Amino acid sequence: MLLQSLIFFLKKNIERNPRKFIFLIFLVIIESLFVMASFAAVVPFADFIVDPELKKANQFTKYIISIFSFYSINLNYISFSVLFVITVILTSIFSALILFQIYKIVMDFKVSLANDLLSSILFSKWSHLNSLKQGQILNIFTKEIQYVGSATRATAQIFSNIFKLFIYLYVPFLINAKFTLQVIIAFLIIGIPFLYLSNYAKRVGEKRTFHANSTIDKLSESYHAIKLILGFNLSAKTKKNNLSMIKTLENLELKAVMLSYIIPLTFKPAAIVVILIFFGGTFSTAKIPEFVGIFWGMYGAIPLVSTILNNILLTSNFYPSFKQIDNVINDCKNYPETDKGKKFDKLDKKIQLENVNFGYNDEKIFIKNCNLDILKNNITSFVGKTGIGKSTIIDLILGLQTPNSGIIYYDNHKIENINLKSIRDRVGLVPQDPLLFNTTIKENIRWANPELDDDAILKILDKIDAKKFVESSKYGLDTYVGERGLNLSGGQRQKIALARALAKKPNILILDEALSSIDVKSSEIINKYLKELSNFVTIINITHEIDHCKYSDKVFLLKNKSFVEIKNSEFKPLL
Ligand SMILES: Nc1ncnc2c1ncn2[C@@H]1O[C@H](COP(=O)(O)OP(=O)(O)O)[C@@H](O)[C@H]1O
Ligand SMILES: [Mg+2]
Repeated sequence: MLLQSLIFFLKKNIERNPRKFIFLIFLVIIESLFVMASFAAVVPFADFIVDPELKKANQFTKYIISIFSFYSINLNYISFSVLFVITVILTSIFSALILFQIYKIVMDFKVSLANDLLSSILFSKWSHLNSLKQGQILNIFTKEIQYVGSATRATAQIFSNIFKLFIYLYVPFLINAKFTLQVIIAFLIIGIPFLYLSNYAKRVGEKRTFHANSTIDKLSESYHAIKLILGFNLSAKTKKNNLSMIKTLENLELKAVMLSYIIPLTFKPAAIVVILIFFGGTFSTAKIPEFVGIFWGMYGAIPLVSTILNNILLTSNFYPSFKQIDNVINDCKNYPETDKGKKFDKLDKKIQLENVNFGYNDEKIFIKNCNLDILKNNITSFVGKTGIGKSTIIDLILGLQTPNSGIIYYDNHKIENINLKSIRDRVGLVPQDPLLFNTTIKENIRWANPELDDDAILKILDKIDAKKFVESSKYGLDTYVGERGLNLSGGQRQKIALARALAKKPNILILDEALSSIDVKSSEIINKYLKELSNFVTIINITHEIDHCKYSDKVFLLKNKSFVEIKNSEFKPLL
């Protein structure tokens, strides 16, 4: 349908901003009254110039003259021109107010969309977010939301222009109905074919959204991998690939921009030709005042019709951008991370996995019939080869993934009956990729617990053999770690990530290969400290090195899709 995009935008806008839209209507009505008044001024003005005696004034002028005489205003050049100028100025003031109101609607709409996006993305389940592409999200926040803003402006403008158009055509209609009707029909005949361009505009919009997503995805990936690209000497190839994507995107932008000029550049001349032909057919000097009124109406109507048509095209072009945002919001809302369930405060006895099966898709179950207990204030280690499913176990325990079958208990409560956010509030996590933020060491640690002061942070760093390297850095705790922590060594990053988890004063501490890049001497210090900590913290330790299980109370080996407990007597000789 030709107007589908426009109707979609109108519905979404009125839904979100009913009050602002009502105020816009109010402003448009007032402006329309002034536009009418400008007619009331221009027709007698023209009559007066042609015939200062006003002997053969037309009906409209006579009406105005009667108003003038009622208020005892003299009929002269000054009174007519003052009336005209006042109406024009007031129309402009209201046009400015309408513009301001439209942009306020645009701004509010963009902010409310961003709010919906942030709350749907940041509060939805990891198992769903996992499938979202970073490029798509970045594209939405940087470009697509702007496009939606433009489409919103176009929608509100169409809305207000239709009102104005009605007035611009209504007065000429009063002056000469037949002539005005002919012109309106001619406008429709010229205008409707342009609407068929909106299907094309929509296809261009779809392609642009798709290419913008993947271009931004590739660009951000290349930037993240810049060291790798240099190391593999693949700069030239990366440049070629990125540039070719940018060129494709720019070509689509060019098409969209050209589309936005087609109507203003062709409709206006065509409409003027039509009007002049009609004028030419019926011209006579006596009709000049009447023509001035009609021409004034057409002079206002032509740009309005042109803008309406062009804005319909714009909404079609930006429709795919909005559709994508709408889909992301709705998809995320289908997978909300709920606030429901019993609040978790601390572990009383154990976390228990009962007959747990898990695979990312049903055919490929790689955790099979898993039955195990993680006891309170113990160190429980999981060992196994790369890719066997160790990190996945953490995702299951944190409720980031849900088992295909089987149950996970925290004490006697099934995980699905516990508020997951309250579990995560009590967990300190050191992920396999330490992922530091581009700020100082101190702020990275305080991110987990803003209440900690420098002394408390240094105390934690001291326990995990990190104080020395931090204090010997030029700015100490205020040293910047660089993007993703890349100014630090791998082991240093891991130490800060561990300090961040400890800063939370967790009830359960989860370490995913947390010490894999840390030297043997430091690892020993840290492991001893963790043993001390396990007097009051439950520690889950994931590792592929049996050496890191030395202080564990329980060790599970992941083999043949299931976890087997290995007794101390069995694994100690392996050390
Ligand atoms: N998001 C994902 N989607 C699909 N498969 C995944 C995903 N994450 C991990 N896998 C697969 O699940 C298996 C277990 O991964 P993981 O638990 O990370 O192993 P590891 O024991 O090395 O920590 C691997 O075969 C991996 O390819
Ligand atoms: Mg892993």
